[in-house]
Amino acid sequence: MTMIFPKGFMFGTATAAYQIEGAVAEGGRTPSIWDTFSHTGHTLNGDTGDVADDFYHRWEDDLKLLRDLGVNAYRFSIGIPRVIPTPDGKPNQEGLDFYSRIVDRLLEYGIAPIVTLYHWDLPQYMASGDGREGGWLERETAYRIADYAGIVAKCLGDRVHTYTTLNEPWCSAHLSYGGTEHAPGLGAGPLAFRAAHHLNLAHGLMCEAVRAEAGAKPGLSVTLNLQICRGDADAVHRVDLIGNRVFLDPMLRGRYPDELFSITKGICDWGFVCDGDLDLIHQPIDVLGLNYYSTNLVKMSDRPQFPQSTEASTAPGASDVDWLPTAGPHTEMGWNIDPDALYETLVRLNDNYPGMPLVVTENGMACPDKVEVGTDGVKMVHDNDRIDYLRRHLEAVYRAIEEGTDVRGYFAWSLMDNFEWAFGYSKRFGLTYVDYESQERIKKDSFDWYRRFIADHSAR
Ligand code: FCB
Repeated sequence: MTMIFPKGFMFGTATAAYQIEGAVAEGGRTPSIWDTFSHTGHTLNGDTGDVADDFYHRWEDDLKLLRDLGVNAYRFSIGIPRVIPTPDGKPNQEGLDFYSRIVDRLLEYGIAPIVTLYHWDLPQYMASGDGREGGWLERETAYRIADYAGIVAKCLGDRVHTYTTLNEPWCSAHLSYGGTEHAPGLGAGPLAFRAAHHLNLAHGLMCEAVRAEAGAKPGLSVTLNLQICRGDADAVHRVDLIGNRVFLDPMLRGRYPDELFSITKGICDWGFVCDGDLDLIHQPIDVLGLNYYSTNLVKMSDRPQFPQSTEASTAPGASDVDWLPTAGPHTEMGWNIDPDALYETLVRLNDNYPGMPLVVTENGMACPDKVEVGTDGVKMVHDNDRIDYLRRHLEAVYRAIEEGTDVRGYFAWSLMDNFEWAFGYSKRFGLTYVDYESQERIKKDSFDWYRRFIADHSAR
């Protein structure tokens, strides 16, 4: 099939500040919760973002990679502790200037800057050492993050194409407070809902702050990693409520689903939802971002949910969900490959939240990439599996568009290999290989493939 994507469709790549920048103690930056987390033994091999891809010093060359790739958009995040390094909330001009230069250079290259305001690097001063206090457990954090968003929006203004408030609040709530995988790694089960609500509130307040400071021109969005499940219908429904509609419904419909309250009865009283919060959260946005990698297979279990909770719930439907092994093939992350689910999710979102344009803000594959040296001394990385993955997911996006779903863009994760959170440097998602010893960049075969794909499938 000849796939020509709609005129103006954004083909991009995505990164996040802590995953690429390094230079953690330069330019006035102070630690984030991920600096603390990675320095206290919570990542594979004790890896940290101290150096990462050294993007802070190499950004000019790295943006040239984007230009070579021929993308028309680049999604990156602002490192909050670079911009607001101290608890007094004062902006650090050096930090703002860094991002301002990036935005200008992108515009010079004809690449639309898509700015994520919160990609997990909460300043450490907003949280207590072990995360038991402060952070997203506090309402106050939502207000402070909104102040920060206003400062960024005032500086970058309408040079930014789209501001994205949050990246994957599911991770910031469920993996960071419910579980232990992400900073601060509290493992406090139902406290995740408290964090989720404060993240929702931050989304609404950030939308207001960005509109007030950057005017009407830039788009507003949020990026969710919806939990796409297959398996037993009750379990799928339950995960949909807890993992997806807990964000989608307040943001896009101005309410939490009643069923979410009933299935969490006895473990969460939702007393942290104050009068007026839902109006604040329910802000008009221009586009909804979806990060999509794989699907889950689930079934209901007899265990009570959140065994950590002191009050086990007796509410109907309050038993937990078992996550079953998925059928292969799997990526290096152990994530299954299921492009049909991307198509189905885009179509379903379009049906359930009509009129909301969609963007795939992340999609990609970790592979066991190896550098090979040709007879001419040229270094190469042959990553055919990644090419296949990207091609099949782009086809799924195209199918959804053909069926009338308004999808505005696709961003490959990632421009280059980087610090993969709890997995440290062990997982490579890049279109560009990074030799972490020398910081050499080597374009993988997928880089050239994506470049050709963009050239061949963009509307003229
Ligand atoms: C997503 C994150 C992103 C990256 C990819 C692989 O959950 O948003 O930063 O780590 O996964």
